[in-house]
Amino acid sequence: MTDPDIRKGLAGVVVDTTAISKVNPETNSLLYRGYPVQELAATQPFEAVAYLLWNGELPDAAQLASFRETERAHRALADNVKAAIDLIPLDAHPMDEVRTAVSVIGASDTAAGSSVLDTASPEENLTRSIRLFAALPAIVAYGQRRRRGQELIAPRDDLDYSANFLWMTFGEEPDAVVVDAFNRSMILYAEHSFNASTFTARVITSTLSDLYSAVVGAVGALKGPLHGGANEAVLHIFDEIGEASNVVSWLDAALAEKRKIMGFGHRVYKSGDSRVPTMKAALDTLVDHYDRPDVAALYDALESEFVARKGIYPNLDYPSGPAYNLIGFDTLTFTPLFVAARVTGWTAHVIEQAGANALIRPLSAYVGPEERHVQG
Ligand code: CMC
Repeated sequence: MTDPDIRKGLAGVVVDTTAISKVNPETNSLLYRGYPVQELAATQPFEAVAYLLWNGELPDAAQLASFRETERAHRALADNVKAAIDLIPLDAHPMDEVRTAVSVIGASDTAAGSSVLDTASPEENLTRSIRLFAALPAIVAYGQRRRRGQELIAPRDDLDYSANFLWMTFGEEPDAVVVDAFNRSMILYAEHSFNASTFTARVITSTLSDLYSAVVGAVGALKGPLHGGANEAVLHIFDEIGEASNVVSWLDAALAEKRKIMGFGHRVYKSGDSRVPTMKAALDTLVDHYDRPDVAALYDALESEFVARKGIYPNLDYPSGPAYNLIGFDTLTFTPLFVAARVTGWTAHVIEQAGANALIRPLSAYVGPEERHVQG
């Protein structure tokens, strides 16, 4: 028998079609339902982009108003979800907290179709998706607050999604520059075709499991530093380096130890991540706003030195990590922020997968011992 064609990590393998987003590494472009993500980030509130990912079209004014009304109605942290979070040790990783919170929300949803997808209509799954999207900011914000010994802050109905998210985290009316940068980051993180966490969600969905189980699994996949955990890891690297003048010596040592430099490289984009220029521009506005040229200097120094040496370019996590740090988020909160954004893409994929399902079950090439038998 000839060796099967094994693609480690499924690299280069096309496993299905999708109408949700298109990643084109040749042109460094990313389209959500046909729209360039840069254009969406520059012009739309995150709510409109979430609506687009789920419904295929941007909302008109009335549709957006109605969508926002639903989102605002489901922002508050449910008592049983808060109680479950409070049981988690303060030194647990916040992604474990988010994973548990989503699981509790799922277990509390006993409506028809909540546990098995073949009885859930696309409409029911969309309703669940919007509620999860609305609930996640309170979960993430409360997580950061309780680690700081602070109380839960109730949502504000007069604020849009991004401003309310910042309000619930910091308890202060956020500045427009900060809201705009944060809103852009949410849009850029929302969707990226068959990345590891989205594919996880699709695999779980393909067994006819429920939407919450798919999202719980996706949170677990996103936690890893080769995926969503990289935005957190970038800040650890920045802390290690300290300042721009240390970049060369730090990089010498890191590369000698064959360390991966977090926030650089991508499985699909090999000549630059299409989302980086938009997020870097947002980071620049924050650098000005908070008067932190040292952050920009370190960012630029590490980027130019690493690109010159390895020809490997930054991915979205590189500018988003320092941006979230400047806004005031704890480093541990960065990947949960990614969850709050990506839940839109994940659930759009759950609905798409469920609508044209085939069980995802690849093959493996066995390399263990030939058949043998227990002696005696
Ligand atoms: N630092 C140092 N070397 C790297 C890096 C990096 N960040 N990325 C790739 N390489 C090297 C790697 O060591 C390998 O070298 P060699 O051929 O000599 O062994 C070569 O480039 C190919 O790397 P790979 O890991 O086999 O390629 P991949 O397509 O599996 O990697 C990646 C994609 C994202 C896992 C990788 O670039 C990486 O580990 N980056 C750091 C983690 C990171 O920033 N992840 C966020 C990804 S984007 C956001 C998201 O989707 O969540």
